[in-house]
Amino acid sequence: MPGSSGGVTVRVPAKINLQLAVGGPRPDGFHELATVFHAVSLYDDVTARPGDGVRVTVEGPQAASVPTDERNLAVRAALLLARRTGIDAGVHLHIRKEIPVAGGMAGGSADAAAALLACDALWHAGLGRDELAELGAELGSDVPFGLLGGTAVGTGRGERLTPALARGTHHWVIALAGSELSTPAVYAETDRLRAGRVLPEPRVSDRLMQALRSGDPDALGAVLSNDLQPAAQSLAPELERTLAVGLDNGALGGLVSGSGPTIAFLVRDHEQAMDLSITLVAVGAVAEVRRAHGPVPGARIVEPVAG
Ligand code: C5P
Repeated sequence: MPGSSGGVTVRVPAKINLQLAVGGPRPDGFHELATVFHAVSLYDDVTARPGDGVRVTVEGPQAASVPTDERNLAVRAALLLARRTGIDAGVHLHIRKEIPVAGGMAGGSADAAAALLACDALWHAGLGRDELAELGAELGSDVPFGLLGGTAVGTGRGERLTPALARGTHHWVIALAGSELSTPAVYAETDRLRAGRVLPEPRVSDRLMQALRSGDPDALGAVLSNDLQPAAQSLAPELERTLAVGLDNGALGGLVSGSGPTIAFLVRDHEQAMDLSITLVAVGAVAEVRRAHGPVPGARIVEPVAG
């Protein structure tokens, strides 16, 4: 509910894909997926306050790379919610950005999920989570998962979700690349690399689901996989070295996150996360690292904004 100043802040997590199985291109241009989403503790905070029209401001180290016009998914989310509910109200959205921009961690989608939830509360629209997720799916394939969080299987183009049975908490070292990759470009490169091949129906790995149920990080590390990884590495060849450094220095597994270029390494515990972070930076394999744990909940209202 809006705070005394009339503002609402929603915190939303980044995601990694523990598995991303990608089928061939569909007639609508999207690809059929079978994926396992996992929400990790890197967050954007989106604050919605009453305002004229829909506008957005962004704060954070990569703020300059985030569009503030209608290309911004949070802006599109607010406009879509207003249109569908017939609400004639404005909003000023302010994004505090910690999730890497164009990094394969669904940062833009996370902001859209947060904006839907924040505007719903600000405007007293009263939509349920399911209705917000349906709107979210129109904005981007990863938006519904931003609302749900946790660990979940995604099918269709990633928007159809089923929560996964998963035990325990996993620790991750997130290696940020100094560059960005465009998601459509990585899918297109995947099609190019696989041209002429007969592709199986994408399906989630039984071994991965078993590893999640057991909570065993060694088992999980051994089955991480991403069909977009060859294309991401083809477009950003430096990723191969980063992966090798992480895997040679004790990571239980590692993979390109989504369409990249961020890499996620699974480690045993917080201490190993510290050690690997230091090594990755010391050998110059990455510009920056973050540590995170998962699963964490999806978008949620953290505070009515005071003052
Ligand atoms: O749904 P979203 O806007 O995140 O997708 C961005 C782009 O990624 C799409 O335009 C498409 O090129 C590609 N994509 C895809 N198949 C999916 C999801 C995304 O081809 N299942």
